Amino acid sequence: MEADTPILVAKHLYKSFPLTRKQKEQRGVNTDRLVAVNDLTLSLKEGSIYGLLGPNGAGKTTTLRMIATLLSPEKGEILYKGEHLKEDAYRRKIGFLTSELKLDDFFTPSYTFDYFSALYGVDQEEAKQRKQHIFARFGVDRFADVQIKNLSTGMKQKVSLAISIAHSPEIIVYDEPTNGLDIMASRDVENFLRDLKKEGKAIVLSTHIFSLVEKLCDEVGIILEGSMRLEGKMSEICAEKSLEQVFFDLVEGEAL
Ligand SMILES: Nc1ncnc2c1ncn2[C@@H]1O[C@H](COP(=O)(O)OP(=O)(O)O)[C@@H](O)[C@H]1O
Ligand SMILES: [Mg+2]
Repeated sequence: MEADTPILVAKHLYKSFPLTRKQKEQRGVNTDRLVAVNDLTLSLKEGSIYGLLGPNGAGKTTTLRMIATLLSPEKGEILYKGEHLKEDAYRRKIGFLTSELKLDDFFTPSYTFDYFSALYGVDQEEAKQRKQHIFARFGVDRFADVQIKNLSTGMKQKVSLAISIAHSPEIIVYDEPTNGLDIMASRDVENFLRDLKKEGKAIVLSTHIFSLVEKLCDEVGIILEGSMRLEGKMSEICAEKSLEQVFFDLVEGEAL
């Protein structure tokens, strides 16, 4: 592998969804399928954070779900270090998190962590050590044995973050990780991402928070209607304007 080969490349991804008659009426379209992601290419460098921006419905979640193997693309391919991997092998390298992740209320963080570690085939002794380390580092140890239904939203998000790295993934895919969190919990998430980057993980995240992207991301991509419209190094994209200004200029320019 060459030194600058990206850890992950998603090439020419394409995904459409069937539209019901009602959805066609609501959207005022006459086509039978909605193209959610259209010929989208994205590459992620080792040890870097990529921020995906776009209005609601732009295709961010669909893209991230394809990268995380939760959804298969109709066209396109995903390469890990320049190679095709079997789905199972690839999935072990990916940690995924969305703000909608549902933890089972009845169980405790500790049990849930064990469950996911086993699911990913992590060796039991290793899982135990990782749990201790990750829980202590993110303050989950204080409520490790409390039923999830009794935890606050911020605590639950910490548990979800801890679980998303239970199998020590190299690539981390987070869909709006700070959605619905208060400022303190959002800051915890931000610090968590910064720590992961320091460890050398590659992260791709979608968010609506410009400041989060400005603070954390090395690269940024803006998607509109399923296509990548602007992409580049954060420092270059924002050389003259704030990210917010770049974003709105692009969105409003397209709407003209
Ligand atoms: N399972 C699905 N069935 C039908 N349409 C979907 C489905 N998932 C997403 N879409 C549509 O695809 C488009 C892109 O959605 P999404 O990827 O969720 O965008 P974003 O995350 O940027 O808000 C939207 O128009 C959305 O309504
Ligand atoms: Mg989304």
